Amino acid sequence: MCAPHTVETLKSYTLITNASQVLTLRGRGPRRGESLADAGIVKNGAVLIRDGVIVAVGPRAKVEAHGLASGARRLDAGGRVVLPGFVDSHTHLIHAASRAEEYELRITGASYEEIAKRGGGILSSVAKLRAATADALKQRALAALKQFAAYGTTTIEAKSGYGLDVTSELKVLRLHKELAAEQPLEIVSTFLGAHVIPAEYRTRSSGVKEYIALLTDKLIPDIAAQKLAEYCDVFCDRGAFTLAQAKQVLEAGKRSGLKIRMHAEQLTRTGATQLAVKLGAASCDHLEQVDRADIHALAKSDTVATLLPGCDFHLGLAKYAPARELIDAGAIVALATDYNPGTSPTVSMPMILSLACTQLRMTPSEAIAAATINAAYALNRQERIGSIEVGKLGDVAIFEVDDYREIPYYFGMNLCHTTIKRGEIIYSKSGVV
Ligand code: NIG
Ligand code: FE
Repeated sequence: MCAPHTVETLKSYTLITNASQVLTLRGRGPRRGESLADAGIVKNGAVLIRDGVIVAVGPRAKVEAHGLASGARRLDAGGRVVLPGFVDSHTHLIHAASRAEEYELRITGASYEEIAKRGGGILSSVAKLRAATADALKQRALAALKQFAAYGTTTIEAKSGYGLDVTSELKVLRLHKELAAEQPLEIVSTFLGAHVIPAEYRTRSSGVKEYIALLTDKLIPDIAAQKLAEYCDVFCDRGAFTLAQAKQVLEAGKRSGLKIRMHAEQLTRTGATQLAVKLGAASCDHLEQVDRADIHALAKSDTVATLLPGCDFHLGLAKYAPARELIDAGAIVALATDYNPGTSPTVSMPMILSLACTQLRMTPSEAIAAATINAAYALNRQERIGSIEVGKLGDVAIFEVDDYREIPYYFGMNLCHTTIKRGEIIYSKSGVV
């Protein structure tokens, strides 16, 4: 016998219908080569979500005829475009303040690396974070998370790395946990203690060794034991960590059971990509300076090539990552904001899609797959998020456009109309949530 429909059961069904296009991104991920362009579009489509999980997706008539659709809360997409919520797989969520003063310095001629050498750059964000209270950091992060949702993002990765001492790094990682529990976006926590060598370790010759030992022998094992991070990351570059140091840190991460990822070949080519591939990293991020051998190594691996064109745009650099070569060689390409105060102060995945199209020569459908299903793969969440398929979470963005290509086509304006996480509206342009 059927259980009687109570108000509670009715509440847990959501029908999103009357979409001009539903971009399902269906099919087994990750997407390589030509399959990156297949958005799995359903015209005049609908999606049915039960208790946060998708139970039907397809042509409107078929989904509306589904036995569970009649009692569902009905969300009329009004002919707009429906796609999976964006998965932003590279952010430095928690920081204390902007670095607008450096932005101005760069415009008038100083380079990112020159500013860093003078004690600005990441170190200035470290000083600001250490001086900030946990509550101030939390309020700033909460405001940013609301903005992520307002641009259609439903999951983010978040890195520590502006604390760089035991107390401050643990403070940030604990905040990741608190924030994950207190607001709707999923947060994937990454430990980036190896962002740069902190100032207090630079005054003596043994300092670098001591800081790396602090990471490998204390912080990484403690953080893994307390389950404060899922990934361990290293910024391997001139002025940050060498290849040998990066290896030490990532191997320590693996020994403690953390998965690994790497900031690789951003400012200079260091060989970080091939090391990361060899160590089985989930992703290599940035990749502006990769060579042919690096591209080949990525193409032959399951390590995701995460491109961050917001950095090159904000820093005013001409050399973007070779996205076309990476895609054509068969690498798994993802896109992310790299939200951070130094190189990419944006939460807008639609803006990243615009840059991917104009600067990386990715097509709109390739860019969307890179920002959803392949990004989910980069976070090892491809079974749960990144596409609109039966059994996946009801994480959906609705855009105020008739055709998905208009999402990157328009830039510098927010056309996200509604964002839905696990079947619940978390952002609505009308203000009613
Ligand atoms: O991903 N490359 C290293 N880390 C950041 C920049 C951090 C900063 O400048 O504060 C990045 O670009
Ligand atoms: Fe970064």
